Amino acid sequence: FRPMKHLWILALLLFSSPIWGQMENGDDGRLPCSRCNPYRFCNCSHSGFTHVPMVTDQALSLDLSFNNITLVTQNDLLEHSKLRVLDLHGNRLAVIHPSAFDALWSLEELDLSDNQLKTLNYEWFKKLEVLQQLNLLNNPYSCLGSPPLFLGLVRLRKLMFGGQDLKELNREDLKGVTHLDELTVQANNLARYDSGTFGGLWPLGHATLSLYGPFSTNTTLAEVLLLDVCYPETKLTLVDLHLNHYVSTQPLRKIIKRIRDLSLRNFSLSDEATVSLLTLIDGVPLRSLKIVGLTLTGEGRWVRANRTELRNMDEFFVSDVTILDILKFAMTSEVQFLLQNQRKLSIINSKMFLLSCYLTKMMVNVQYLDVSDNLLTDLTISYMLCGNEETLEELRVLNISGNPLKSLSTMSRLVTKLTKLTHLDISRTSYSSMPPSCSWPASLRYINISRAKLTTITPCLPKSLEVLDMSYNNLKEFVLELPILRELHLSGNKFLRLPAGGYYPNLQTLKIQSNTLNVFSLSDLQSYRRLENLEAGHNKFVCSCGFVTFLRSLLAGSRGVKITDGDQSYVCDSPLNLQGDAVDRVTLPIIQCHTVLFVSVSCGVALFLGMLVSVLLWRCHAFWYLKMSWAWLKAKRDYQRHRRQREIEGTGALVSFDAFISYSERDASWVENFLVPELEEPSDSTDLASPLTLCLHKRDFLPGHWIMDNIMSSIERSHHTVFVLSQNFIQSDWCRYELDFSHFWLFEARGDAAILILLEPLSKDDIPKRFCKLRKLMSSTTYLEWPQDEERRPEFWRSLRNALRTDD
Ligand SMILES: *[C@@H]1O[C@H](CO)[C@@H](O)[C@H](O)[C@H]1NC(C)=O
Ligand SMILES: *[C@@H]1O[C@H](CO)[C@@H](O)[C@H](O)[C@H]1NC(C)=O
Ligand SMILES: *[C@@H]1O[C@H](CO)[C@@H](O)[C@H](O)[C@H]1NC(C)=O
Ligand SMILES: *[C@@H]1O[C@H](CO)[C@@H](O)[C@H](O)[C@H]1NC(C)=O
Ligand SMILES: *[C@@H]1O[C@H](CO)[C@@H](O)[C@H](O)[C@H]1NC(C)=O
Ligand SMILES: *[C@@H]1O[C@H](CO)[C@@H](O)[C@H](O)[C@H]1NC(C)=O
Ligand SMILES: *[C@@H]1O[C@H](CO)[C@@H](O)[C@H](O)[C@H]1NC(C)=O
Repeated sequence: FRPMKHLWILALLLFSSPIWGQMENGDDGRLPCSRCNPYRFCNCSHSGFTHVPMVTDQALSLDLSFNNITLVTQNDLLEHSKLRVLDLHGNRLAVIHPSAFDALWSLEELDLSDNQLKTLNYEWFKKLEVLQQLNLLNNPYSCLGSPPLFLGLVRLRKLMFGGQDLKELNREDLKGVTHLDELTVQANNLARYDSGTFGGLWPLGHATLSLYGPFSTNTTLAEVLLLDVCYPETKLTLVDLHLNHYVSTQPLRKIIKRIRDLSLRNFSLSDEATVSLLTLIDGVPLRSLKIVGLTLTGEGRWVRANRTELRNMDEFFVSDVTILDILKFAMTSEVQFLLQNQRKLSIINSKMFLLSCYLTKMMVNVQYLDVSDNLLTDLTISYMLCGNEETLEELRVLNISGNPLKSLSTMSRLVTKLTKLTHLDISRTSYSSMPPSCSWPASLRYINISRAKLTTITPCLPKSLEVLDMSYNNLKEFVLELPILRELHLSGNKFLRLPAGGYYPNLQTLKIQSNTLNVFSLSDLQSYRRLENLEAGHNKFVCSCGFVTFLRSLLAGSRGVKITDGDQSYVCDSPLNLQGDAVDRVTLPIIQCHTVLFVSVSCGVALFLGMLVSVLLWRCHAFWYLKMSWAWLKAKRDYQRHRRQREIEGTGALVSFDAFISYSERDASWVENFLVPELEEPSDSTDLASPLTLCLHKRDFLPGHWIMDNIMSSIERSHHTVFVLSQNFIQSDWCRYELDFSHFWLFEARGDAAILILLEPLSKDDIPKRFCKLRKLMSSTTYLEWPQDEERRPEFWRSLRNALRTDD
């Protein structure tokens, strides 16, 4: 037992370490993925994640496809209760924890296809009550397992499962699933099927089954399975069938009588199987048969099937037909009986080079004929349409797209007799020129000549057209009157400007993408009277201001025309600095875009600012200050000049007055009636009262001199300056203020002898701030107050005289 014990420990160590490692990675080592768009779709595909990445719990849709994720742990998706879509397609998932999806209450779509899941666990889906779509395709499980996987999925509408390893389907496997819109089962190697497994699926919209193995090895199984899903209302698609003999067609024997709509994909048939199948479908109620990817392995010996009648078949569609042995293949029987009842017939991409007139004459009911992507030429088309003879009289739609046709006039001549033809698709042909005139059936409304090689258009095009597709040619111009045209496709040509709209009064849709348009304008659009939809992206736009503004208004939908190809396709090609920028994002300089507006607005602003400044200056008496400063400067200069002159001449200052009297005009009466008489002609003849000489501007200024100079010289020639202050002085007399202002400046220069007389009580604060000199003077110099009381006036005069006498 001892060695055993050691082995146990060793095993534990060996196995636990990678598990721990993974746990660590799983919890902490999870990388974030933040590639989420505004619709909360997080695209974390193709990113090499080995663990479920950390994604915002607000995500609605999470794409983890094509990574290398190997496991989903219990905690990986814990926060994603809002998630609707989870895609784990194309990983290497081998392990999913039973409760990994438990938190995904809102999950509607789950894709686990193309992984390595060997077993499926019903616990995964147990809580996914709103799941509508589940894809389990291509995993290596051999059975679905029990208990039934889908039991709780009551909302399931789309179910896909199976793969190369699916071996058995048991009766209980689809328990709980009923109403399905789509069922896809890959069961190419199915070996066991319990009858009734799919029997409970009703209604079933569309069943797609790959049953290669059962059809070739156990046809009973295939038949039983098919019987379970086939109802008249169920569309059946069978994929990857290879029918090589009579027996292999037998599973279809019963169901072909039940179904109405059968599609076959990747389908190969031998001659024997073809005959057998044709016999089987004789007279069945099948309405639509579509075969995509048909390989004929035989030689075309179908003679025994000449009775087949498909009276009920409305539509026969076959594309991508390959005949393996084309040299030996020769249909020894005519198959016209197959083609005489359908209304819709398509034989596409099948290297067909001829459809004989004999056959088309049989197709008396056909209204829709599509022979696109074959090898029909002008000549064989001529055979097909029987030259000048009547054929295909009921034909409405003819699609010859993708054939090597060269002559448009031949085509027009041939189809003229198809009097009910409304749609003609001759796109992807080799037409390189258009004849000057053509004849067409009067009923023709739609022509598609896109991807040909036309360089010009002519009146060949019929006036009856409502839809015309001329995209991807080499056109530069389009001038043709088409009065009832509704749709015009001109993308991928070489247009420099929009065609003139006047020719198309009924045009509603214009597509002109990928040309070389530089600009288009409102008037261009307005020339189309009925235009509603425009696609003009991917052109070489020159992003001028006018164009950008116009296009933005167009994109914003304010012009009545809807842009239907997305804002992002409108990109500037020039100027160089804007190349590659979306037109609705570029910012152009305002100067460039609104020159007139810009200039007028800036002028207006400048004017306004100027006015504002002027008003402000005026309010602050700035002009007054300026004028005063100027006057003062001038006076000061003159004064200095005079003084220098006097010094040169040697004459001293000429003092001839005792005082210069500065006063307001309104106080003139006081000066004349009191001051002058009192000082010049004193009434009492005491010592003190000897006469003084006064300088009054009214009386003593020299006429003819500038007033400022007069003041200057008067002050200069006086010992003192007497200011007669009053409210009048301060408030009213502007003219005097000016003068006095300059006195103060000058006064400062002399630095002495100012005498202030207050005619009425004034405090310093009554004086406006701008007379700062006066204010200063008032606070530094004592002043004399004119007493109202007569008794005290002699006292006043005495003080004044004293002041005037106290000489320098
Ligand atoms: C998600 O991204 C990949 C490339 O990372 C891209 O190929 C794929 O088209 C994207 N899927 C969708 C739906 O946009
Ligand atoms: C996944 O891993 C394999 C090898 O481990 C590697 O070759 C492959 O490129 C990886 N795939 C992605 C999408 O990273
Ligand atoms: C064919 O399949 C049926 C149904 O699963 C089965 O009963 C039968 O044994 C199979 N036959 C052969 C030959 O494998
Ligand atoms: C077509 O079916 C055959 C089996 O008949 C299969 O081997 C092949 O891979 C299929 N081809 C395609 C393209 O699915
Ligand atoms: C069908 O072929 C048989 C011979 O195999 C012939 O007798 C019969 O007339 C043919 N019927 C038609 C409608 O061509
Ligand atoms: C004609 O066939 C082409 C290619 O199969 C298809 O794109 C086109 O829509 C068809 N035209 C009409 C009018 O059905
Ligand atoms: C014209 O034909 C082209 C190519 O077959 C096709 O892509 C296009 O959609 C058609 N135009 C119209 C308006 O149907």
